[in-house]
Amino acid sequence: MRLSDDLSGIPTSLSPQQIGDWNRVITGILSHAASTGPKLNLVLAAAPDFALGQAIRGVSCLLLGRAEMVDIARQAYAAALTGAPATMREMAFVHALGDWLHGRPSRAAARLQVILNLNPRDALAMKMIQAIHFVMGRPDAMRASVEGVLAASDDHPARGYILGCHAFALEETGDYVRAERVGRDGVALAPDDAWGLHAVAHVFDTTGRARAGLDWLSGREGSWAHCNNFRFHVWWHRALMHLDLGEYDTALALYDADIRAEKTDDYRDISNGASLLARLELEGINVGNRWEELADLSENRATDGCLAFADLHYMLALCGGERDKAAVGLITRMQSTRPLANEAQRVIAHPGLHIAQGLQAFAAGEYPVAWMHLRAGRADLQQIGGSHAQRDVFDRITIEAALRSGYTEAAGALLRDRMARRGGAVDGYAAARLSLIDAVQVQAV
Ligand SMILES: [Fe+2]
Repeated sequence: MRLSDDLSGIPTSLSPQQIGDWNRVITGILSHAASTGPKLNLVLAAAPDFALGQAIRGVSCLLLGRAEMVDIARQAYAAALTGAPATMREMAFVHALGDWLHGRPSRAAARLQVILNLNPRDALAMKMIQAIHFVMGRPDAMRASVEGVLAASDDHPARGYILGCHAFALEETGDYVRAERVGRDGVALAPDDAWGLHAVAHVFDTTGRARAGLDWLSGREGSWAHCNNFRFHVWWHRALMHLDLGEYDTALALYDADIRAEKTDDYRDISNGASLLARLELEGINVGNRWEELADLSENRATDGCLAFADLHYMLALCGGERDKAAVGLITRMQSTRPLANEAQRVIAHPGLHIAQGLQAFAAGEYPVAWMHLRAGRADLQQIGGSHAQRDVFDRITIEAALRSGYTEAAGALLRDRMARRGGAVDGYAAARLSLIDAVQVQAV
């Protein structure tokens, strides 16, 4: 076995000639770089029996949430199992891929956590654990995992990226002051860390400081220009800030020029687009024919059945594009899931199905039905994964369904709960609904 240390100082089965490319893969994963895939292909072309490389290829395929990528992940898993002798740590990544392929991403994260506990300097394990917990909607686990490596990473070459992950986990667990400070420190160390930069943007969004958020992002576009499709997501955050300030034309201009600059069918890209259009429509903004391409793409992806988060954004797009038949088809597919066998399917069955039915009813103007379904799914909404900012579109539609059904007190309670989770912040959305509720209550008196 050839052993060369990676950038974290951890032995790998690669030769000294190959380790440079592998380190660029690790840095690419940490920084969400567009170059990561080509770099991984280079490594695997030179060392197709490199089990860890195959495992990362497989896990990366599963993170895409696309049915056709599951087969490629299986091929990577088979190649990893039959490849060259690997270290115990490398085989843990391979078995983690196997866990996920068998429907157990939580077990995959736990297996990688054992590896991270053995060597807290393992930046690759740290980042993959964060990614899996993020998809599963487990911010507490994200935070516990990354906080376990901080003490060992003072002099780590990836320290800035580690701080970026810590900042995001702090934000998702409600520690906004520390999240902002740690995020700024991380970006100072790793200026190309779009994840850390975007963690600070999350803080501004969540705490209702849109103007300060725009100041933070302005001039830092180079931090995310190098990214894979994650760059669309950072533009989405910027558009949310304009939305909050009532600058709807600017939000739509960003939608056209940046968020949907490429008409991709990656579920994360569709989620950015659908989520922004849905929020704009809640504010009464005419979004023109922008739903059409999202609905076309979502029709094609609606049979994937990989992630509830993806399904619900496809549903937003199908409803926006008035694709009633496709929306019914998606609901039917979600109803036919077999939740016992698979963690993701369990979430699709609940809360996914209730939320999807709620979105469908909301689009049809059946607000009491929408309210019933959305309320039933709301308590477990976090399980669909993603961030608070991403799931907020479903919170907004739930509150809107209550308001349009005449359940004013319930809408007020949901608004107060939303504000409490945001450190008491009253953003533009909340301010408008609170004044609406006040007006209704004054009329009632
Ligand atoms: Fe985000």
